[in-house]
Amino acid sequence: MNMSTVFLNNAFLPPKQALISPMDRGFLFGEGIYEVIPSYQGTFIGLQLHLNRLFNGLKALDIQNPYSRDKWLSLCQQLVEQNDGDNLAVYIQVTRGSSTIRHHGYNNDLTATIYAFTFSIPTAPLADKRQTNAYTVSTHQDLRWQRCNIKSTSLLGNVMHFQHGIDEGNKETILFNSNQELTEASSSNVFIVKDRTIITPPLDHQILPGVTRYILLEILNKYSQYKVEERKVSHQEVIRADEVWLTSSTKEVAPVIAIENKPVALGEIGDVWLTAQSLFSQYKYLYL
Ligand code: PDD
Repeated sequence: MNMSTVFLNNAFLPPKQALISPMDRGFLFGEGIYEVIPSYQGTFIGLQLHLNRLFNGLKALDIQNPYSRDKWLSLCQQLVEQNDGDNLAVYIQVTRGSSTIRHHGYNNDLTATIYAFTFSIPTAPLADKRQTNAYTVSTHQDLRWQRCNIKSTSLLGNVMHFQHGIDEGNKETILFNSNQELTEASSSNVFIVKDRTIITPPLDHQILPGVTRYILLEILNKYSQYKVEERKVSHQEVIRADEVWLTSSTKEVAPVIAIENKPVALGEIGDVWLTAQSLFSQYKYLYL
């Protein structure tokens, strides 16, 4: 992990000097918004889209956006320049700030706490069946809150769902709502393929509007021959899919080969995945 310079409240600092108050509402209430933005050799993928989502999240929480878009852009760029590593993700977190008392209600006079750091990420995923990470996943009823479209730092539900998968020897947990419809995974969006149609659940309060999801959908619609649908996906459809994928900023498009210890189709990485990841690898740099 690379953490030689971090950013806290307008200053670039060594990590040990980055200190916040225990009265910060991010600490007390998990009241904040975050982003994870990947960069490869200094080039960000989807930075503007990540900033759009950050701004939307801040608005949803009624936290005033502390910086202009240009300032956010240069902050991200400077952090990558000041830290070593070819492939770095920038983590950004904005909380409402700290107050002298712990009280659920807040005043608008608080000063937001802004924290950002980089961490090393693996080289960009390759569209190569032998070199990609195939995922095995658990499943669980989605027990998170009903505002999952907000990229909130309150991640207890996600953490518990993620760890459930780890405890079962898997690397992710795919979630279903009480109607047995697919929502997303604990830290990724989910796509399925059936009869060469690529399907993912629609955007609503149940899922994060993933930047990778957005870019992939646009690339598939523009550059692939496949039919693409955003619609409800049942549990049965997931179990019977020809392919299942996870998407996130650091995974890009990751194939799932087993769900609850049962193979997805023949338990092999699919050909549609190969096309999708190679198109993603080719066109992602259009999304800066
Ligand atoms: N996770 N859904 C959830 C619940 C997520 O936490 C994430 C990302 C995604 C994918 O979003 P994007 O494509 O914009 O990365 C979907 C990040 C990487 C994290 O929390 O570390």
